[in-house]
Amino acid sequence: MTRDNFGSRFGVLMAVIGSAVGLGNLWKFPYVAGKNGGAAFIILYLGFMVLLCIPLMLSEFVIGRRSQANVVGSFRKLAPGTPWYFTGVIGVAAAFFILSFYGVVGGWTLEYIISSAGIGLNSELIDSEQQFHSFTQSTVRPIIFLVIFMGLTTYIVLAGIKNGIERYSKILMPLLFLMIVILAIRSLTLSGASAGIEFLLNPDFSAIDGNVILDALGQGLFSLSLGMGCMITYSSYFKKNINLSKVTLITISADTLFALIAGIAILPAVFALGFQPDAGPGLVFIILPKVFELMPGGSVFAIIFFIVLAVAALTSAISLLEVVVAYLSEELKLKRKTATWIAAVTISIAGVFCSLSLGSLAGIKIFDNTIFDFFDKFSSNFLMPFGGMLIVLFVGWKMRRADVYDELLNGGTLKIKMFNTLMFLLKFFAPIAIALIFLNKIGLLNFM
Ligand code: PHE
Repeated sequence: MTRDNFGSRFGVLMAVIGSAVGLGNLWKFPYVAGKNGGAAFIILYLGFMVLLCIPLMLSEFVIGRRSQANVVGSFRKLAPGTPWYFTGVIGVAAAFFILSFYGVVGGWTLEYIISSAGIGLNSELIDSEQQFHSFTQSTVRPIIFLVIFMGLTTYIVLAGIKNGIERYSKILMPLLFLMIVILAIRSLTLSGASAGIEFLLNPDFSAIDGNVILDALGQGLFSLSLGMGCMITYSSYFKKNINLSKVTLITISADTLFALIAGIAILPAVFALGFQPDAGPGLVFIILPKVFELMPGGSVFAIIFFIVLAVAALTSAISLLEVVVAYLSEELKLKRKTATWIAAVTISIAGVFCSLSLGSLAGIKIFDNTIFDFFDKFSSNFLMPFGGMLIVLFVGWKMRRADVYDELLNGGTLKIKMFNTLMFLLKFFAPIAIALIFLNKIGLLNFM
């Protein structure tokens, strides 16, 4: 049986950018950037994008396209008989854990699309905080939306690479871009918006310390779907004529641009209407509904905003599911359809526990965390940095330099600049930098 492939360059770009652009850009980046010194954080973040994320993304592409296999199979093929395949096992586990809680938040975005229709209908202001908590802590409703969100994800993945992932990414990503530009323009034209821009762009270098540096690194990995094999899996479906360096540079630029536009769309509105930015999900699900209530035509913009969140989450969720599906179907020799259902159902069941852990199962703690938080932290703070470190070490030290070169040059048809710099970053800078975030995150290193 021949393996499915992405059909076109545009399709490759939309799928890869679709994986990268997600909840990480839209709610996390604006807040994290603001909290950590605005422009100063952004400069740091950009620095890590160049020095760390470019080499890591190229590494994943080299591994994936060279092996044409799932994340476990790729290491088995490139380094047969060695324990390197364990890197792939980490990736599959990370995909499982991330999608379990990501699907829950994806479900929330659907609920908020629906509830946004009611914005502005009552003269009384809604208590959006109480509403958010009573919704997320309830038992049945969030699970219904989780199942719908996972159902959409499964539907796309079942259709395959070209007819599913590529086809829908090509429709959804341009739509996403259009909608977020509309939101940014609306936001910037509110009076008082400039405070938000200042908050985002005014450099405060005094806010930078060791933790902020490490936050910037961690945010970069999550935002670009790196360190857990998503990009290995996707690139295993690239044709040989795809220019890996180009896809890397365009994806990283687009992801950063989306994060910045999201900041520009969200923060001015928050400030213009007299609110303070708040941490994580709170900003998007608690503060923004209030912002939309006070805004003329708020209901329409609220609906657009939550559709944006849902679409961004969906195109990331399909890439997470595909990691597990490719693994199950190729390594365990299951039919792709069977593999998809097994993966989707088990991840959804884990998702149900994540969702319940915010309400009725809140008492169950894993290392002092609710199930939801444990899944989040265990994957972002442990599996991804660890996986990322192994991936750069593999390409930097284990693969033959000539093979890496050949893959980046498409067998000699392209030219590449700065190959030696890249190899230096791969061998030394990237593993050391990632080892530092990793050790810090798991608490072994507290140098600040
Ligand atoms: N990059 C996605 C985001 O920013 C999340 C993600 C992580 C997707 C890892 C796939 C793999 O939301």
